[in-house]
Amino acid sequence: MDEFVTLTYNGKEIMLPMVTGSEGEKAIDISSLRAETGFITLDPGYANTGSCLSSITFMDGEKGILRYRGIPVEQLAEHSTFKETVYLLINGRLPDRDELTQFSVMLNDNSLVHTDLKAFYQNYPRRAHPMGILSSMVNTLKAFYPTLETVEEEINITMTRLLAKVRTMAAMSYKISRGHEIVFPRADLTYCENFLNMMFDSPVKSYEMKREAVNALRVFWILHADHEQNCSTSAVRMVGSARVNLYAAISSGIAALWGPLHGGANQAVIEMLTNIQNDGGNCQKAVQRARDKNDPFRLMGFGHRVYKTYDPRAKIMKKMCDELLESMHITDPLLDTARELEEIALKDPYFVDHNLYPNIDFYSGIVLRAIGIPTNMFTVLFALGRLPGWIAQWRESTDDPHWKISRPRQIYTGSQKYDYVPIHAR
Ligand code: SDX
Repeated sequence: MDEFVTLTYNGKEIMLPMVTGSEGEKAIDISSLRAETGFITLDPGYANTGSCLSSITFMDGEKGILRYRGIPVEQLAEHSTFKETVYLLINGRLPDRDELTQFSVMLNDNSLVHTDLKAFYQNYPRRAHPMGILSSMVNTLKAFYPTLETVEEEINITMTRLLAKVRTMAAMSYKISRGHEIVFPRADLTYCENFLNMMFDSPVKSYEMKREAVNALRVFWILHADHEQNCSTSAVRMVGSARVNLYAAISSGIAALWGPLHGGANQAVIEMLTNIQNDGGNCQKAVQRARDKNDPFRLMGFGHRVYKTYDPRAKIMKKMCDELLESMHITDPLLDTARELEEIALKDPYFVDHNLYPNIDFYSGIVLRAIGIPTNMFTVLFALGRLPGWIAQWRESTDDPHWKISRPRQIYTGSQKYDYVPIHAR
């Protein structure tokens, strides 16, 4: 039975249909609102606004639930590979053995980049942030593949090229930033092994592939793979809605993710923990500052638009911190500071009242430090993890028979009409 809500205004009323999701979430479909009433809705930051119907990822912010295509992220982190999770997100189901093998071959066959791309990297200022470089280079990639993504075959090869090449490009930017020779991908290594090898192998010393590091990267990327309509995914959908090519849409997602309120938070957390340590390690003072409305300081890695409880990914990341550092015989004083900060914040009335808990970025930087990733590459690693989610979400929008260009409205609050005054009369 269809459900409706009644909107009553100025003595009139209209019925607006309700939409119910497969997990019981409810929304009011306002697509006829302006035509019927002349009104629009206003929702800065879209905290109460759904942009689409999607079958990719389900989140329950109150219960701390996250599932990719119905599978709990905890089970994927425990049992899956990143490549298999990529296939699941993009194709909507887990692959069988042959499909996974074929997918692997496709990724390996497309993992090299055109040698001319190297010149673009070499002309970047050495101190350029890797996220700015990655966003530009992904856009540049389109110049090497100018064919339109109009037919299924072209779309599939474009998605494969991005999944295969962006990982190579990320490692390239690191090597070139250090003035070192590029290390090429190898077909005999897994997706995660390849990235670590491209980052750290060198003619002087072969990279010692450690099982713990590979596993940590596998879990890190699975946990970051998708997260419904977050800022960067919404950017990919928004930019993609103009029918721009997928490279440009992904480039916009990388740019959005760079922000410290979003994916850039993992780098900001490490900088915050380091500053707290350098300032004498006073975690109580940091929590006080975070509560102070007159102080712009926020506890990076805390809070979330959707999760009003512990981010389920942060739980896994925190557990992995302990296991990884112990198995690699690493001690990281920042982990002690992070734990103390969490313990104080979770008992602080302000944080409790505001439902502020650690999010995925709070512990992820410590995991990346442990496997040797430089801090300014942390958000690049987030982008590599989120790439399949962006692609899956873009693909879902292009498959929508009612796919429209995204164009929100506004309420104007500027000057009312007045006539132009010539300069000599002002
Ligand atoms: C990611 O959306 C996603 O799914 C994102 C992500 C993904 O996988 O794609 O999960 C990845 O981006 C995680 C978030 C990473 N960012 C940070 O850790 C930065 C620190 N966090 C905050 O800036 C904030 O919590 C956000 C940006 C994450 C969420 O912001 P909202 O939902 O817009 O909330 P808000 O800024 O309106 O804050 C609500 C209240 C405010 O206080 P009041 O004015 O209502 O009294 O909570 C306070 C805020 O001041 N608050 C914080 C805080 N976060 C919110 N106070 C201190 N420290 C914080 N971290």
